[in-house]
Amino acid sequence: MARPLKRFACQSCGAITSKWSGRCESCGEWNTIAEEAAAPSGPAGGGLARGPGRHRGRLLEFASLKGSTPQPPRYRSGIAEFDRVCGGGLVVGSALLIGGDPGIGKSTLLLQVAAALARQHTACAYISGEEALDQVRLRGERLGVSDAPVQLTAATSVRDIVASLERPDAPKVAVIDSIQTMWLDSVESTPGTVTQVRASAQALVELAKRRGIAILLVGHVTKDGANTVLYFEGERGHQFRILRTVKNRFGPTDEIGVFEMSDRGLADVANPSALFLGERRGQVSGACVFAGIEGTRPLLVEIQALVAPSSFGTPRHAVVGWDSNRLAMVLAVLEARCGAAVGANDVYLNVAGGLRISEPAADLAVAASVVSSLADEPVPADMVVFGEIGLGGEVRPVGQREARLREAAKLGFRSALVPRARGASTSTPRAPEGIAIDEIDHLSDLVARFQPADRRQRRPEREGLADRRRI
Ligand code: TYD
Ligand code: MG
Repeated sequence: MARPLKRFACQSCGAITSKWSGRCESCGEWNTIAEEAAAPSGPAGGGLARGPGRHRGRLLEFASLKGSTPQPPRYRSGIAEFDRVCGGGLVVGSALLIGGDPGIGKSTLLLQVAAALARQHTACAYISGEEALDQVRLRGERLGVSDAPVQLTAATSVRDIVASLERPDAPKVAVIDSIQTMWLDSVESTPGTVTQVRASAQALVELAKRRGIAILLVGHVTKDGANTVLYFEGERGHQFRILRTVKNRFGPTDEIGVFEMSDRGLADVANPSALFLGERRGQVSGACVFAGIEGTRPLLVEIQALVAPSSFGTPRHAVVGWDSNRLAMVLAVLEARCGAAVGANDVYLNVAGGLRISEPAADLAVAASVVSSLADEPVPADMVVFGEIGLGGEVRPVGQREARLREAAKLGFRSALVPRARGASTSTPRAPEGIAIDEIDHLSDLVARFQPADRRQRRPEREGLADRRRI
């Protein structure tokens, strides 16, 4: 007879192994492996039968599927930035996971979302496992939402929660704050362990599907269960917060929502570019406006560089808001392909406002701010920059050129330093009204534009720019 299989789970990362060891091979933590009862054979939540799916097991061709899957119904909260990040609202019967550092505003946002939905007659429950009801009430008063008919409760037992959400009059949307506090009595680990969190999340996700409830889970779980995963980020000390889509089965990923934290909670920021550029002081060397795209929308943000002679043997490179490997690459290309002497300097790079950029399209803007700081020549205050840089120093076109330029023109920028558009040697590519395009092919063209005036190569484009600036 086969022996029952033992399972061990790392309480730190959730990795499953078949034998115990002192150190988790997956995350390297010590003393985190604990034995776990073998997974129950049925679905968590106590033998919940699955209804037959419409197409389960049948083989079908594209044509016969056409029109058979309508857009999933959604609940819109009316909080525009939140709805956008969800891909247009909460999907009925889905589970959304929202993570982020403590104190970033998860509970605040979800209470606001719950209240907004409840006000529009979508029955909504807010289940707090972290705070007492009084605390939730006080927060509600502070946010000015205590008149909204949200159903509040403080609970941590998933069995009780599932039971109350099973009732026919159960709410359509339920917020669980947070999944880390939830526990299932059928699982033998203590609350808070990875095993408990995973089992609780699984039971709640299953409930969401089965009863058509939209469930919002606060906290950290592996992404597998949830249909949508959002991450709340932002720098402490900055007022705004970014809600970013990490995964979305029902909409685009990489979408962002921008909020401002005030004393009355989080407010939508309708024009983030204006917010991120709000604190600019014109004509400082080392600052350059990058015309970026976050998700589906253009976003202008200032990139700041400080290049200073290194006082230690090895130069320091410090980056906030961008990838430090990418900075190292841009610096190496500047040095090796363009002869810019950055090597012996400390380089500090900062994306203003605390935004985190991951687009390679920021390469050229980063290079421009570094070169500008090195030459102590300001980038024109009315100029935006974008473009990807290759290891040969070539400047490559990036996607959504027109959307970037349109946003820049909308915010009053008058010139743009951009990669040469492919195949556009004969016809001038379209550009929005009022913005002059300066196209370059190689990073050395950028460096040439920041040479002190006497050594500067006289180029037609450069003269064009200078003329316009004089006007
Ligand atoms: P909270 O929403 O509790 O964060 P999380 O659930 O992610 O841990 O924390 C919000 C933080 O924001 C907290 O430090 C207090 C602050 N805050 C405001 O500035 N304004 C407000 O209206 C509220 C409710 C909180
Ligand atoms: Mg909280």
